[in-house]
Amino acid sequence: MTKEVIIRFDHVTKRYDNDAVVLDHVSFEIERGKFYTLLGPSGCGKTTILRLIAGFTEASEGDIYFNGKRMNNVPANKRQVNTVFQDYALFPHLNVYENVAFGLRIKKVKNSEIDRRVKEALRFVNLSGYEKREITEMSGGQRQRVAIARAIVNEPEVILLDEPLSALDLKLRTEMQYELRDLQKRLGITFIFVTHDQEEALAMSDEIFVLNQGKIQQSGTPTDIYDEPINRFVADFIGESNIVPGKMIRDFEVEFAGKVFECVDQGLNQNESVDIVIRPEDLEITSWNEGKIQVKVDSQLFRGVHYEMICYDEAQNEWLVHSTKKATVGEKIGLNFEPEAIHVMRLGETEEEFDKRLESYQEAGYEQ
Ligand SMILES: Nc1ncnc2c1ncn2[C@@H]1O[C@H](COP(=O)(O)OP(=O)(O)OP(=O)(O)O)[C@@H](O)[C@H]1O
Ligand SMILES: [Mg+2]
Repeated sequence: MTKEVIIRFDHVTKRYDNDAVVLDHVSFEIERGKFYTLLGPSGCGKTTILRLIAGFTEASEGDIYFNGKRMNNVPANKRQVNTVFQDYALFPHLNVYENVAFGLRIKKVKNSEIDRRVKEALRFVNLSGYEKREITEMSGGQRQRVAIARAIVNEPEVILLDEPLSALDLKLRTEMQYELRDLQKRLGITFIFVTHDQEEALAMSDEIFVLNQGKIQQSGTPTDIYDEPINRFVADFIGESNIVPGKMIRDFEVEFAGKVFECVDQGLNQNESVDIVIRPEDLEITSWNEGKIQVKVDSQLFRGVHYEMICYDEAQNEWLVHSTKKATVGEKIGLNFEPEAIHVMRLGETEEEFDKRLESYQEAGYEQ
């Protein structure tokens, strides 16, 4: 399938009246038909990005393109975009059918056409037969589906979803994750979904943009981001990680926990300070003498599938270990890991900075 870019942000900066920079030169591409997630902590700028796409607010600098056309000043009602808000914003005095039909009635669409499209939208979200129900008689999950039906009935090219699952309890939330993902696949419409829940993002997305403080820290598939976090923020935010300070000795050699290890990273400066990430499931328990690092077990929990141990090395670095092997509290053990399990990260580098650095090596004749 050829790549078709539907939305493009080119160095978009957003300042509100108080001059604080909320988005700082944000650039990305959204391809048609994929499920995207904006992931990041509260206040990082997720909703602001959706508002810019929907046309509810304007960029202070930079350009926003839709199907290749600049659309910075195109009003919201002229954009092929619909938003599902966190509180669904349904009309309590209208029944399910009329909630979904509302936008079409405003646009003066013919009644027969409205009927066809509303019924089809309700069928898509598994609510056929609920047309006459009052909104107040619907459960949280059902209201959620009405809100989605109201978005898809307009046949938009893109649907924006701002934390639509956060009001639901855990079980319903998980069910709705499957449903939403399935719905997106069936419709083939581009979804841009916002959450601050990393597990939700990993489970649902084709692509994730990890945001912090108005900058995209990293973008990629869930596995890219989980396996190769680009900096301490991403490693810490996505999944459980061991992050310890280290020093790059030279290409393929890194020092941490008081020792030098073989690794697969290159292209950093000699003796450069770095952060090291090793995932807890990549650490293997062995005897004290056979381990690459020596630790003392501080606590141990059984987690159903694996044991979870917290250990400390002599430099007082904390090591979280997930293993089907059990170690006893107080025991001195060794930890082993493959060179590939060591992820070396430049201190606080974002994806854009990383890409620039890679380009400069390639220009200098390094093979990647
Ligand atoms: N209308 C506004 N005027 C001034 N500042 C604003 C306005 N809207 C948002 N902000 C600020 O912009 C920053 C980003 O807000 P945004 O709503 O995009 O965050 P978010 O990532 O969606 O957070 P949350 O997860 O809490 O919804 C915040 O610091 C917020 O206070
Ligand atoms: Mg928000």
